[in-house]
Amino acid sequence: MSEQTETTSSTAAQRPEVNTESSGGQFEGKTVLESRDLDVYYGETQALQDVSLQIPEKQVTAMIGPSGCGKSTFLRCLNRMNDLVDTAHIEGDVFFNGKNIYADDVESVALRRRIGMVFQHPNPFPKTIYDNVAYGLRVQNNEVTDDIIEDSLRRAALWDEVKDQLDTSALDLSGGQQQRLCIARAIAVDPDVILMDEPASALDPIATSKIEDLIEELAEEYTVVIVTHNMQQAARISDKTAVFLTGGELVEFDDTNKIFENPENQRVEDYITGKFG
Ligand SMILES: Nc1ncnc2c1ncn2[C@@H]1O[C@H](COP(=O)(O)OP(=O)(O)O)[C@@H](O)[C@H]1O
Ligand SMILES: [Mg+2]
Repeated sequence: MSEQTETTSSTAAQRPEVNTESSGGQFEGKTVLESRDLDVYYGETQALQDVSLQIPEKQVTAMIGPSGCGKSTFLRCLNRMNDLVDTAHIEGDVFFNGKNIYADDVESVALRRRIGMVFQHPNPFPKTIYDNVAYGLRVQNNEVTDDIIEDSLRRAALWDEVKDQLDTSALDLSGGQQQRLCIARAIAVDPDVILMDEPASALDPIATSKIEDLIEELAEEYTVVIVTHNMQQAARISDKTAVFLTGGELVEFDDTNKIFENPENQRVEDYITGKFG
């Protein structure tokens, strides 16, 4: 259905290819997470400046930008992981389904159950595959059933590879499998949002491609926010893209197609076309 357009400009040719099919192309959907005028400091150093951003439900929102521009800091603010950093200090607000997550009555542990996180380096526990997936449920004193374990592993596209070895150590899995196990572990507690901080950057190309496929599938059920320094990856898998630049400034946020094909901001254009960063 989409109109074919020929681009002949040399800068366009350098841009990562965009998967237009996966782009929602509208902001009408429900906002799940919203930051308003968010500033973050580590001691005296400001890592984010006045970031206001609305993250839509059941889409993939990518955060891109050069190293040190505050992508991980922003992601960690969304489920209060920055609480764990002694020197971090936050001003501004973050709302989850309209509720301020920094309000006094919000319990960060409960919040992180609704807003799970997957890190750059897979971090399974030194336990069996089964016990890794069951971990969050047990911590919450929730019932663990074989069905939940299977369902979580299926949703993480790992079941077929591990169904006969659920009682073996998770540490024997490959890096890519470990990362999908960490995703299964996050899914098992039935979160609304999954935050991912460069989840494929420690993986080989085949494992990366499996994770990318999985992320697109996950967005049918969950809101996914992914940090990546890989622009091609953002272009391939995300619906919305937020571009952060040096100094912790959110410079542009829009449909992924728009960001990669016709950004408003010259600095974003320069970054996307590889002039710096
Ligand atoms: N725990 C920390 N303590 C002090 N400074 C930090 C800490 N984490 C990040 N920073 C600083 O905050 C800025 C943003 O970092 P980060 O959010 O990790 O960027 P990115 O993920 O985009 O590479 C950088 O200048 C970094 O050095
Ligand atoms: Mg980072």
